Amino acid sequence: MRWRSWLLISTLLICCACSKGNEDHQNNAAGDSIPENATIWQRAAFRWGAAVNAKLLRNNAAYRAIVTREDNSVTPENAMKITRIRSSPDTWNFSDADYIVNYAIENNKRIHGHTLIWYRVPAWLETYQADAAGWEQLFKEYIQTVVSRYKGKVGSWDVVNEAIDDNGNLRDCVWLRNLGADYIARAFQYAHEADPDALLFYNDYGQEQSELKRNASLALINSLISRSVPIHGIGLQMHISKNTSEENLAAAINTAAKTGLQIHISELDIAMNPENNPDLTYNTALAEMQSKKYNFIVKTYNAIPEAQRFGITTWNVTDGDSWIVDAFKRPDWPLPFDKDYKRKAAYRGILEALK
Ligand code: XIL
Repeated sequence: MRWRSWLLISTLLICCACSKGNEDHQNNAAGDSIPENATIWQRAAFRWGAAVNAKLLRNNAAYRAIVTREDNSVTPENAMKITRIRSSPDTWNFSDADYIVNYAIENNKRIHGHTLIWYRVPAWLETYQADAAGWEQLFKEYIQTVVSRYKGKVGSWDVVNEAIDDNGNLRDCVWLRNLGADYIARAFQYAHEADPDALLFYNDYGQEQSELKRNASLALINSLISRSVPIHGIGLQMHISKNTSEENLAAAINTAAKTGLQIHISELDIAMNPENNPDLTYNTALAEMQSKKYNFIVKTYNAIPEAQRFGITTWNVTDGDSWIVDAFKRPDWPLPFDKDYKRKAAYRGILEALK
């Protein structure tokens, strides 16, 4: 009999250890215990979204499930860029963009289109030869083909992306060189003609990095407004880091809101390794610091008038699929979910901001 009681006791001990382990895992992942069913978008008086990767959405069930559960707005991360849609003058490829749009419709998500006009273009366009009328024709045709295709499905667009450089000047690019400075206003007009119901955004980064960039983008936007160009919103990308000050974050959000336009925090992520330390590992202190920063952004955003809150979109979903790791070749953990699809402390920070 003694061996039986020994077996019973050791089984009990093992079970306790296991369930304790699970609990710890859940608590660590979430930063504290958050009920599985409390999602950000259910608590927020604005849309909560993510940039989505078409390949992952198609092939990775866990990725698809997390987007389906956690977001009520999606932005294609790359599928609607001209590099994908028109990789050569004679190819129009909408397959990934269509896939995301259909997914969003089936799953009742808003779709934000990103992006019609950007300085990054396919190689053929860098060397394209045409006179002014030829360039205008190509520019207008591209914008109107894409916007018309998704009319009634994609309700909003980043019409022009990153048109201002880090010195506050119009960025050198094929559009500026071949169409002149007013290409920006005309892009909005052409998009508006193709879908008069779509909300049209100017999207850029760095309004929280410097006053110079902030003032330059506001000057551009205010001049479009004063000329009655059909612009309805501002996208603040907010690719920020643990070092971005609260003062600058608030200034970016609040000065943009003063225009009266819709404000979209359009590409949010918070890099925790801006120093590019190859040996850095994520730890509780970093997780808490990140949680506080997410909390601050969401609180500040939640204080602008409700009618102007277009929503907050994170740039992809989990630390495992963030562009930061790829682009900067370093370990980093910028998003509210970890690579195992678990909620991080950042998730709690966001939920708490919405209380
Ligand atoms: C990035 C994507 O995340 C990457 O996958 C791609 O290789 C390059 O573009 N600002 C933008 C986004 O407006 O479109 C960029 O997305 C990130 C910076």
